[in-house]
Amino acid sequence: MTEWRVTLSEPDLGPEESQAVAAVLRTRWLTMGAATQTFEAKFAEFCGAKYAIAVANGTAALHLAHWALGIGPGDEVICPALTFVATANAVLYCRATPVFADVSGFDNLNISTEAIRQKISSRTRCITVMHYGGYPCEMQAIHKIAGEHGLAVIEDACHAIGAEYHGKKCGTLGDIGCFSFFSNKNLVTGEGGMLVTDSAELAQKLRLGRSHGMTTMSWDRHQGHASSYDVVDLGFNYRIDEIRAALGQVQLGKLEANNRRRRELTRRYQNHLRQIPGLELPFVNHAASGSKALLGAFHLFPILLPPAYERSCFMEEMKRRGIQASVHYPPVHRFQYYQKHFQHAAGTLPLTEEVSRREVTLPLHPLMTPEDVDFVCHAVSEII
Ligand SMILES: Cc1ncc(COP(=O)(O)O)c(C=O)c1O
Repeated sequence: MTEWRVTLSEPDLGPEESQAVAAVLRTRWLTMGAATQTFEAKFAEFCGAKYAIAVANGTAALHLAHWALGIGPGDEVICPALTFVATANAVLYCRATPVFADVSGFDNLNISTEAIRQKISSRTRCITVMHYGGYPCEMQAIHKIAGEHGLAVIEDACHAIGAEYHGKKCGTLGDIGCFSFFSNKNLVTGEGGMLVTDSAELAQKLRLGRSHGMTTMSWDRHQGHASSYDVVDLGFNYRIDEIRAALGQVQLGKLEANNRRRRELTRRYQNHLRQIPGLELPFVNHAASGSKALLGAFHLFPILLPPAYERSCFMEEMKRRGIQASVHYPPVHRFQYYQKHFQHAAGTLPLTEEVSRREVTLPLHPLMTPEDVDFVCHAVSEII
C-alpha cells in the first residue's frame, strides 16, 4: 500500500462523531427515527429549503428526483458527461434518455448553457445540472431556458454542499436538489444523501418513494401513531439509518468552517499554480472563487495539464512523491455501457473529452495545512 504524504481527500471526524454514534446505539432505534427527522429539519433550515428528505446515498437521491418528476420512457434529460456516472444513470433508471451537453470551457467545467439550448428537442423534459467541484452553474440562464421550454430542473449538488448562488444555496435553485454524503464529500456520513425541494407535492412523492410507497413508517407505528399502512406507489428502499443521520448532524455543524478552510487552501493553490506556464486552472476566474454573490463549496481542486503532456507520467511522479491525485471524470458518454446503448462517437463533446484527457484533481480537504498545499505546488512545478 502506498504511504501518502498528502491524501486526495480525508473526512474531518472527531470525538463528536463517535459520541453521536454511541448515543444512537443507546437509543436502540437504528433506522428512520428521531435522528433522521432532526437531520432533515436542520439540513432544510441550512439550505433555506421547505423540505429535506434524507436517503441512502446520492445516487438514490438522483433516481428519486427524476422518478418524482415523472420522467419516463421516451423522455430526454439534458445533463453533463463530465460528471460521476450516477447523474446519467439516474435518467436510465427511469428508462429515459440522457442527452449529454458539453462543458462551458477550460475555465469553467460546468455544463454550457449554449450547449443545453442546442440539445433541446420535443422530447426534452428536464435539465439536470451538476455543480462541478462545488462551483455553481449558470442557473439564471438555465432557468430562462427551462422556463421557455417548460422543463424541470434538477440539481446534482453532490459537490456543492453549502455553495451559494446569489444568496440561495445550491440544491434550492431548481425543482429538486440532490446531495451525497459519501466519504469524500464536504459533509460525510459514509453512505448517505439528501433531497431538498420547496414543493409540498414533490416532497410527499419523494417521501413515499423512499420507502416502498408506504403510507406509514415503523417509527410511526412504534410511536403509537399508526397501526397499519397502505402502499400507494411503487417505491424503493432508499431509507437512511439513524447512525448516519446522527453523523450528518455533527458534520453539518462543521460544514461552514470546513468550507472556509477549503476556500483558503484553494486560494493558496491558485496563487502558486497560476505562475506555471502551460497549466490551466479551471474556475480561477469563476465568480464563486471570489465574489460575494456566489460562493463555492471548493469540493475539488482540478487542474488541466498542458495539451501534449502525458498525464500518466505526471500521476506517477506525484505518486512517487507521496501525493495522491485523481481524475474527475472519465466522460460518461464514452463508457463502454453508454457506447453500447447510445453509440456516441469520439469527438461528440470535444471540450468534455479534452478536459477528461488533461484533468488532474489535486488533494483538497479541510485537514490539509497550507504547507501541504505548498508541498503539492512545488511538486507540480518541478514535474511540469
Ligand atoms: C457528482 C456526483 N453525483 C452523484 C454522486 C453519487 O453519490 P453516492 O456515491 O452517494 O451515491 C456523486 C458521488 O459519489 C457525485 O460526485
